[in-house]
Amino acid sequence: MDTKRLKENFARVATYGDEVPLIFYSDLFLRAPQVRDLFPVSMSAQRDRLVGALVRIVADVDAIDELVPYLRGLGLDHRKFGAIAEHYQTVGESLLFTLAHFTGSEWTEDLEKDWQAAYALVAQTMIEAARQDGESAPAWWDASVVSHERRSLDIAVLQVAPVQRLPFRPGQSVAVESADCPRTWRFYSMANAPRDDGLLEFHVRIVDGGALSAALVRRTRPGTRLRLGPAVGALTLDSTSRRNIVMIAGSTGLAPLKAIVEQLTASKDPPRTSLFFGARTSDGLYDLPGLEKLAAQHDWLTVMPAISHPQMDDPRFPAQHGSIIDVAIRHGPWQDHDAYICGSTAMIEAAVQRLTAGGMPRSRIRTEDFGWSHQ
Ligand SMILES: Cc1cc2nc3c(=O)[nH]c(=O)nc-3n(C[C@H](O)[C@H](O)[C@H](O)COP(=O)(O)OP(=O)(O)OC[C@H]3O[C@@H](n4cnc5c(N)ncnc54)[C@H](O)[C@@H]3O)c2cc1C
Ligand code: HEM
Repeated sequence: MDTKRLKENFARVATYGDEVPLIFYSDLFLRAPQVRDLFPVSMSAQRDRLVGALVRIVADVDAIDELVPYLRGLGLDHRKFGAIAEHYQTVGESLLFTLAHFTGSEWTEDLEKDWQAAYALVAQTMIEAARQDGESAPAWWDASVVSHERRSLDIAVLQVAPVQRLPFRPGQSVAVESADCPRTWRFYSMANAPRDDGLLEFHVRIVDGGALSAALVRRTRPGTRLRLGPAVGALTLDSTSRRNIVMIAGSTGLAPLKAIVEQLTASKDPPRTSLFFGARTSDGLYDLPGLEKLAAQHDWLTVMPAISHPQMDDPRFPAQHGSIIDVAIRHGPWQDHDAYICGSTAMIEAAVQRLTAGGMPRSRIRTEDFGWSHQ
């Protein structure tokens, strides 16, 4: 396989931008109309994701060892979408049609053979990972909402019961799909440690114009059916560490950190833990009473709320004013601690920057990026 030629060809095709996924999906849905039902009504997000994945795959096509873990993860991820082995054949045909279309007269038999071989390798790795996973885990977990509490205009706390127990570690997340917003999968973090009754708590905040977050906050009721993917994520407790902990949560970024706090409550000798919980206004401190109750029960836990955009009637509110990062840094120094941070991309970047500037090694900071552009 001439990997240099594949890379050059893909770089050339990629210059056509959005046209590439447009042609690919038009061809796929013509070839196999039944496959359309696996995808959400709006394909805008998917277009970028597919090209993003192909860019990643082609970039590493000659470093297969690095590629394999990614492809295995992707194959596993595709089980919940309903992708089966036969679909990979059709997707491969549409991919080759698309590449040939944009390569034009320079498309050769050799190039076609190389692409076929590369795709076969990718598809086999994904299919095999999915097959192996299928031996021990369901493709998704059916679940239903048992309680739905609207804590503010844009935030709800949900208790969810999976039909089958869903294994996870505190701090992890699962992809969620709702019967009310079919085939739109988004990640949400469990806000509790595993419980005997198997219940999962989720904290969801509406993103402006968001499809699933709006459905989960506004239209979900006890009884609403959900589907959940397997637990993923590395914002989990470093159980080898004896250091004290600082946690910084922006809005519903609190969820995975609260799960870790719950895990610590069960440990024999929990580290001193300072949890900073920030929101724009006091409305956004949707879980403060519960956190304060926990802090009152456990002397190793301190909870410090902060609001960045206080309203006229906020001054009496018992929260610090300012960005959660400023407030957290003000209460340092933290260089001898471990840090756990969750919230928007901008918040995480700023917190990591400030903590490392204060002497904390990057390796002691664990983060989960919810991806929002604002807190
Ligand atoms: C690992 C992980 C765990 C998460 N856990 C939680 C959680 O516990 N609670 C929670 O409230 N949220 C969580 N999120 C965010 C969540 O997955 C969704 O991104 C969010 O709810 C928006 O989904 P949506 O379908 O409503 O919006 P979409 O329909 O996907 O998007 C609507 C609009 O918002 C924009 N948008 C969407 N997502 C983002 C983004 N990430 N950054 C910037 N703009 C965006 C889109 O461009 C679009 O214009 C988590 C995300 C990740 C990756
Ligand atoms: C080489 C093969 C493939 C690659 C590289 C690929 C890549 C991707 C990526 C990166 C995503 C986004 C992942 C996520 O949101 O979790 C995705 C989602 C998806 N893929 Fe694939 N995929 C491949 C094959 C297939 C096949 C064979 C099918 C079945 C028809 C399929 C159906 C889907 C569906 C339904 C989604 C979800 C769409 C959405 O949420 O908007 N994919 N794919």
